[in-house]
Amino acid sequence: MTAQLNPRGDVAVLVPAAGAGVRLGPGRPKALRLLAGEPLLVHAVRGISFVPSVRTIMVAAPAAEVDAVRELLAPVAPVQVVPGGAERQASVAAALAAVPTGPEIILVHDAARALTPPMLIDSVAAAVRAGAAAAIPVLPVVDTVKEVTGDELVLRTVDRSRLRAVQTPQGFRRSVLTAAHAAADDPLTDDAGLVEQLGEPVTCIPGSEYAFKITRPFDLALAEHLLAESPGQATRTLSS
Ligand code: CTP
Ligand code: MG
Repeated sequence: MTAQLNPRGDVAVLVPAAGAGVRLGPGRPKALRLLAGEPLLVHAVRGISFVPSVRTIMVAAPAAEVDAVRELLAPVAPVQVVPGGAERQASVAAALAAVPTGPEIILVHDAARALTPPMLIDSVAAAVRAGAAAAIPVLPVVDTVKEVTGDELVLRTVDRSRLRAVQTPQGFRRSVLTAAHAAADDPLTDDAGLVEQLGEPVTCIPGSEYAFKITRPFDLALAEHLLAESPGQATRTLSS
């Protein structure tokens, strides 16, 4: 019997959580680092569990931590845990391969985006339900962007008005994500990139500043600050 949240839900969420967190500095794998006393992964999974249409959560954990992650998440939500791979893409592929039949909408959501509002997760799923092959949350780029040479000489200034910073969750029609991963050769940092390579359209929807990825120590400090200011953030439900 497979662990499920809402048995009538049409969404499976894959949670790549197998990264080391090198940019965060020495310590445990990033998904297990503490934020306000709880691992990042607990915050992320709790947020996902508040989305009513989610039927299955499939976590790709560091291979050495699979049992520990199962235990950690058991009180949070019904989840399944598989060992991740050496690259994010391999972790997503491992989770995707383990999703039982049923959910036709697949979301891929970084454990490192621990403060993502459930509302954003719901919006991405809704965009796919409404017919998008793929839907991704994006924000405008606020800094001026320059392209540089290998020795840090500026080649040109990029027109930022048409650039978008991309977040997760990224949502897909199941058949589209499966085909994209089957066709993948070089590892990419996101799943929508694989879908672009297939030539399928990828729809942008408005992202959320709270969905920032905890990557460097500054990001972890920011997340701590945000939770201290608004402790309900991590447990905020769709209606609040
Ligand atoms: N991830 C994964 N498997 C990998 C690498 C990354 O599941 N082999 C996951 C991370 O756990 C994270 C998400 O993909 O939730 C985004 O990756 P990133 O922010 O780069 O995390 P890390 O790879 O852990 O960080 P770093 O690159 O600094 O080591
Ligand atoms: Mg990484």
